Amino acid sequence: MIKCSLKKEIMNTIRNRVLAGMRPTGRLHLGNYLGAAKGMLALQDDPDFDTLFTVVDIHATTTPYDQKTLKASARDVFIDYLSVGLDPEKSAITIQSDLSDLITQLSFYLSSVMSVARMQHLPTFKEKVKQHPDNVTMALLNYPLLMAADILIYKASKVPVGIDQEPHLEIAREVARKMNERFGTDFPEPTRFATVGEYVPSLLGGGKMSKSVEGSSIELDDNLDTIISKLKKAPTDSGRGNKVPVEGGVANLLQFVKLFEGEDSRKHYEILYTSSGIRYGDLKKQLAEAIFAELKPIQEKRVELEKNPEYIDKMIALGAKKSRAIAEKTVEEVKKKMGLG
Ligand code: TRP
Repeated sequence: MIKCSLKKEIMNTIRNRVLAGMRPTGRLHLGNYLGAAKGMLALQDDPDFDTLFTVVDIHATTTPYDQKTLKASARDVFIDYLSVGLDPEKSAITIQSDLSDLITQLSFYLSSVMSVARMQHLPTFKEKVKQHPDNVTMALLNYPLLMAADILIYKASKVPVGIDQEPHLEIAREVARKMNERFGTDFPEPTRFATVGEYVPSLLGGGKMSKSVEGSSIELDDNLDTIISKLKKAPTDSGRGNKVPVEGGVANLLQFVKLFEGEDSRKHYEILYTSSGIRYGDLKKQLAEAIFAELKPIQEKRVELEKNPEYIDKMIALGAKKSRAIAEKTVEEVKKKMGLG
């Protein structure tokens, strides 16, 4: 009996380890918050899950970047993680480069089972080549293996990322499989973990909320006036019709209503659309207030955290220490199996 539950415990730890990672491309916006952080918040309190978060600053070096600001940007994202409620005691929160010796080492070992052709054919690689034709480096080609190392070093099996990251997860699974076959390791094959706010649309009517598209996003530190003025620019229509739009500005606004005011509010507006009509001025004002109500405590927490840089340092060190314990074991194991240890 005892044996049985122990086994279950061990299996659970391995099966339900979740790793979220974010590049330090500036502070989090609402899309990151809903898409990754909020789902993780729920998981961090669930005893069935081990939650790990990482700010992937080494990934930033795979495309042109500014070495003078990278450290501060990584720290900023770390503080944002804490501000939204991730708890460094309950989860392991790290800055990737604090484990650079182990993660880059593992990614090199992983590269021994992947062919150059496979990496070159990845759609995400091809896209970056188009974006930065003068920066087609080995680091860029290795990006997915660095990500696989982030995940596999903790034997995480669930990764909350957007659908655009699916090709990278496919690589992580392939690497895990090949390593297990070739060297007898026991890496899980990680899958994408969908969270409630996984797809957060742009405010502009098309595509996803993104930092790189001007006016498309709400930042975590936007005040109520800023949110109101951003929402004012979101495209709408006459407010009435036979069928509620399923894409474009109105559909996106209704998606935000659902995310911040609940499914019932969204239904209410859908009914209005096909009857007396939606007054977008009212909808946007209420929505702005609902969004701000959720952001206000996050902003207050951030102000409080920024007053205490020593605490932040301590929490960064705590995350590194916790994660290092797991990561060291994995790397040792892999080295042994590969005949290096
Ligand atoms: N490639 C991811 C992105 O662009 C970032 C990332 C790197 C990541 N390593 C990770 C995400 C590990 C989750 C887990 O969003």
